Order: sequence, then C-alpha cells, then structure tokens
Amino acid sequence: MTTIAETWGVHESQFWLRDEFPADPVRFDPEAGMWHVYGHAEALKTLSDPKVFSSDTTRLIPEEMAPDKDQFVEGNLLQMDPPDHKKLRTLVSHAFTPKVVADLEPRIAALTNELLDAVDGTDSMELVTHLAYPLPVIVIAELLGIPASDRDLFKEWVDKLLRNSQQRSLLKQTEEDKKAAEETREQVNNLVSYLSEHVDDRRRNPREDLLTKLVQAEVDGEKLTQNEVVNFANVLLLAGHITTTMLLGNTVLCLDSHPDEYRRVREDRSLLPATIEESLRFLSPFALVARATTTEVDLGGRAIPADSMLFVWVAAANRDPRTFTDPGIFDPARAHNPHLAFGRGIHFCIGAPLARLEGKTALNILLDRFPDLRTDPAAPPSFIPSPNMTGVNELRLLLKP
Ligand code: HEM
Repeated sequence: MTTIAETWGVHESQFWLRDEFPADPVRFDPEAGMWHVYGHAEALKTLSDPKVFSSDTTRLIPEEMAPDKDQFVEGNLLQMDPPDHKKLRTLVSHAFTPKVVADLEPRIAALTNELLDAVDGTDSMELVTHLAYPLPVIVIAELLGIPASDRDLFKEWVDKLLRNSQQRSLLKQTEEDKKAAEETREQVNNLVSYLSEHVDDRRRNPREDLLTKLVQAEVDGEKLTQNEVVNFANVLLLAGHITTTMLLGNTVLCLDSHPDEYRRVREDRSLLPATIEESLRFLSPFALVARATTTEVDLGGRAIPADSMLFVWVAAANRDPRTFTDPGIFDPARAHNPHLAFGRGIHFCIGAPLARLEGKTALNILLDRFPDLRTDPAAPPSFIPSPNMTGVNELRLLLKP
C-alpha cells in the first residue's frame, strides 16, 4: 500500500510515516550526543516521571550555543518542572476551563463561516491561507487580547522560526547552526518585544482578556514577573496556532486519501471526533518533545546516564506496532487509541480541548459547505520544512464536482 508520505513526499527522516518502526525503541546518537525514544511504552515512561525526565532541557545546551537561553525560559510552562510548573499551570488552567472553551464554539463557527465566505463560489481554495492558519490564530489572539489583524506579522516570524527548528548537535556547532541560532533568536525577540508592549499596555489599561489575567494573577501571593508573563503568552501564541493549523490540514489530507472513511464521516458527523483523534495519531503535528535525565535510568533496556538529552518522538510512538494494531492504517473506528499527540502526564497539552473543538467545528462546516471537497491533483501539497513537525504548509483543494 502506498503511504501518504510516499504519495506526497513528506520528510525523509520521518520513517514512521513510511510504515517503518525501528527494532530498537531507544537509541543513542553519538554524532549529536543525544538519545532518541521511539517506542510507545518508553515514551509513556518518560512523560510520566518528571522527577527523572525533567522538562528543563536548556541546562544541557552549552552556553556558547545559546547565550541568552535563560531569558526565554522563565514562565515557559513547557520547560518547567514541579513545583514551579504546578503553580503556573494551576493559574493558567483557570483561563482554560471546559466552560471557557465550550463558550468559544459560536465564535469559532462564525469565524469559520466568515473565512469560507471569501472562497464561496470559487472553484478552489488553499486550505492553510483561507482557513487553517487564520482560524486558530484569530481565536488565540482574541483570547490573549492582542490584535488578530497583526497575524501576518506573527506568521512571518513564526515561519522563519520553523525554518530553523532542525535537530542540532549538542557536541559541535557548524556555521550553519550558528546562523540558524541567530535567526531563531531574532524571531523570538520579535515575538517577545511585540508581546511585551501589549503586556505593558494591559498593566496601565486592564481589559477582559488573558494578558490582563496573567498580569494581575498571583501565585502564592506573588505576581508573575514581566518575563514570566511575556514568555508564557508567547508559548500560548505559538502553541495555540501552528499545531491546530497542522491538525486541520492533516485531517483533510487523511480523509482525502481514504475515500471510504471520508464518505462515512460526511454522512455521519458523530464520527468526526474519533476521526480527529485518528488523524492526531496517524499524522501527529508535534512529532517530538524533549526531556533531560536527572539521574541514570534504564529505558527500553538501555542504561541512560544522568544529564542526557532525550528526544521523545511521540509521532513514532503513535505508530508503535506493540501498542497499535495495524499502525499504518488510518482507522477512525479503532477500538483503542492511546495516542500521545497531546503528550501525557503533567505537561499534557493545556490547549487540547480548544484544538479538538476548533477541529470539530471547522471541519463540520467545511464538509457542510463543500460536499465535493478534494485535493487538487495538479497542485500537490507542501509540508512544513521542520523534521520535528508534520503538517501541510499548502493544501490546494477543489471545491466543485
Ligand atoms: C503542551 C501538542 C494545541 C498550548 C503540549 C504538548 C504537546 C502538545 C505534545 C506536551 C509537551 C511536553 O510534554 O513537553 C499540541 C497539539 C495541538 C496543540 C498536537 C493541536 C493539534 C494547543 C493549543 C494551545 C496549546 C490550541 C493553547 C491554546 C499548550 C501549552 C502546553 C502544551 C501551554 C504546555 C503545557 C505544560 O507544559 O503544562 N501540546 N498542542 N496547545 N500545549 Fe499543546
């Protein structure tokens, strides 16, 4: 059977997309000086034990490779360990209660309809430009309280960031690595200075938005620092949209490549949530999370020393034949789907309910309005260039029979 990777030419390095699974679920890469975790059970173990597998990975990055690394870590939930992680996570969970998310549904539906009005009556659309990028970015910008009309600015910065998110060695730095690190720093600075201005404004002019809540919030009687507020807002802005953009594009691509499943879900929309979960497993947007060992540990039969960098490939774990029956088959009806696309444990994606709601609402409307929706054979999709992500960059769709 031809896989989506073979049909469309997704990243060479993402072997799991070609139905290959390594004999060794945990592997050391001597060139890069880091470990790779591919197995589901092994990935689960790393995500479930933050004492041994710390999220504070920056301490393992040599100072000369990232001179101002600490500036961006403060307040970055993704890189925090207990007990600090728990404090910030509890605070922010108040902003993402199930009710706050459920109440967004009418706004998500209205935005989807507005965005699709722009292509109604035409023969084709480019999914990312017309829907999959603007929808989640407008939703997260409105939640944070920053102007959604600045989204072309964020897109420019984020696209440049993604271009440079390759795997880099911890042992040696090439000229190319240095240039990429410099560009990454520049783009993060752009995002951080932009958000800083809005945070300053919210200190003076509080509003009903998430930035104001973060500025006013107290953890154990203490307010968050400027760096904490800004870096946290940055994580939300980044994580809040690129991944959901990928989810929307990937799900359309999965359905387009599987006509029987496509027909079933078109006729019975109650199948949409399970279809989205299977798309998350089958083409996991965020392929990788990183951890740092705090002590020597046995994983998958390998003894990993303390202070080792681990790349936990959740996308590969989601294709582990020891956990998933026929992992290379896109099957929304599979009985057991414990995928790790949103992570697991204390860092489980805080935005998962929002991403699922955006996916369900937008895809439902897309299928309602364009019953003949399909890929354009004359314009194959392109993918985000980062090997750490799986998501379409461009997906041209035909709208008419
Ligand atoms: C954490 C994936 C959407 C905000 C994570 C993690 C994964 C992930 C794998 C765990 C990282 C780790 O363990 O190190 C995804 C995917 C999404 C998505 C695949 C969409 C399909 C969102 C959205 C938001 C968001 C919409 C915000 C509105 C976050 C935050 C964390 C996180 C703040 C850090 C949580 C913590 O460290 O406690 N996400 N995410 N994500 N995600 Fe998402």
